[in-house]
Amino acid sequence: MHLGRAITFVFVAGFSSLILAARNQTTPPQKEVTFTKDVAPILYKNCVVCHRPNDVAPMSLMTYDEVVPFARMIQQDVEQRKMPPWHEDPQVGEFTNDPRLSDADIATIDEWVKRGMKKGDPKDLPPAPAFEPGWHILPDVIFTIPEFVVPKTAMDDYEYIYVPTNFTEDKWIQAGEVLPGDRRVVHHATVSVIDQAEYAKHVAEHAKENAGVDEYHYRTGKVLHLRPDAPVIDDGCSAPDGGGIPGHPSGYLNIVPAIYLPGHMPEIRPPGYALRIPAHSYLQFQIHYSNHRGLDEKDRTSIGLVFAREPVQHEVAQYEIWNNMFRIPPNDSNHRVTSCFTLPKDVIAVAYTAHMHFRGKSMTTKAIFPDGHEEVLMDVPHYDFRWQETYFLKKPFVLPKGTKLMTVAYFDNSQNNPLNPDPSKALRWGEPSDEEMMGFWLQFADPQVVTEKAVEAQK
Ligand code: HEC
Repeated sequence: MHLGRAITFVFVAGFSSLILAARNQTTPPQKEVTFTKDVAPILYKNCVVCHRPNDVAPMSLMTYDEVVPFARMIQQDVEQRKMPPWHEDPQVGEFTNDPRLSDADIATIDEWVKRGMKKGDPKDLPPAPAFEPGWHILPDVIFTIPEFVVPKTAMDDYEYIYVPTNFTEDKWIQAGEVLPGDRRVVHHATVSVIDQAEYAKHVAEHAKENAGVDEYHYRTGKVLHLRPDAPVIDDGCSAPDGGGIPGHPSGYLNIVPAIYLPGHMPEIRPPGYALRIPAHSYLQFQIHYSNHRGLDEKDRTSIGLVFAREPVQHEVAQYEIWNNMFRIPPNDSNHRVTSCFTLPKDVIAVAYTAHMHFRGKSMTTKAIFPDGHEEVLMDVPHYDFRWQETYFLKKPFVLPKGTKLMTVAYFDNSQNNPLNPDPSKALRWGEPSDEEMMGFWLQFADPQVVTEKAVEAQK
């Protein structure tokens, strides 16, 4: 592979310098935009993390020969800012994982395409970034589920699979990534940390045929749904539970080192912020399998974890805040649903995620501080189910106890929504993708400084 690439470069280099020489006789020398000098660094920095062989994007953009056939499409997509993908409003907040290109980079690509996509001097080409196959981080440790057969009948199944960490001491996790074993059937995977006592309880609960069934929920096979006749609360903020199941708060705590969702990249927390995995914990893989291949498929999904390298200051966890009681009428193109959750303690905001299914249209979350002033935290004006990013704040900041987080989502259940599987259906909360969810997740850190020598624990 390396050898092949080197040979290509030598060959094309000789060729293009001939062309250059010929051109220079007639036109005055001018600064030329070339692939090797100008375009490759932009792609290496911003694109190849996904656009490399066997990764999430449909084509690799590592080499000149791979890029040229897509050049016009690249020019168009970067100008329209469709690529790299990013769905948070650029006016709201600053995020460490904001991949948007600078105007100068976009102009460079534009110029390069307009001027005939010159290759340039191979010596200008920066070294290609190195990746672990599949991963977008370099994990210190990887946990993989035992081989799981996803039957061809598993159109929408939630499976709960447990892997012991066998950690004999607490570990601090700065980054994490869930790598689907088979992207064609793994729709999403949430990995949560649970302790030994919870482990036994979870295993027993999820083994039950009627797991999760109560006065509001029913089950079909391996998925849970809200009953069609459950009370309707679209405006969660007007209800005592903020949009949660009556009697339950809209927000609950979860310890999630990493999650896989469509278009989701790894969780990379700022230095000094880390998630604790206590000794002897288990990892619960909640995997949503969706097998439309007509064949049984085998899956071995993994989570990769990177230990904190720097002293940990703040311990990270997550509030998942939901409206679970909405009802979206058929053919409604702009259905409003809200949730509200009041923070029970001081937290440091670290990252935000918007979660809806195919009808999700937009989501905005604002903080209403105890002194009454308001601030928009997250604004996803054009939600896209295929791109469920988590937005990591450049400057984490304190949200004091008593701050109300108010989320407003709109759903498009009309036929104008190209992703809509069925506009004629009224929708309630449900685990399958063709039913709906409305969630805002806040990764937060404890303002209390961690006093133990958290990094020493890794040795
Ligand atoms: C987070 C991963 C990711 C990053 C980063 C990314 N892409 Fe993509 N790209 C994808 C995926 C997945 C698709 C296919 C799905 C889609 O089109 O929405 C895609 C599609 C495309 C397409 C359209 C291909 C087609 O056949 O329609 C172009 C062109 C493209 N990307 C260019 C770029 C460029 C240029 C960059 C960097 C400036 C970039 N992408 C960054 C994941 C990514």
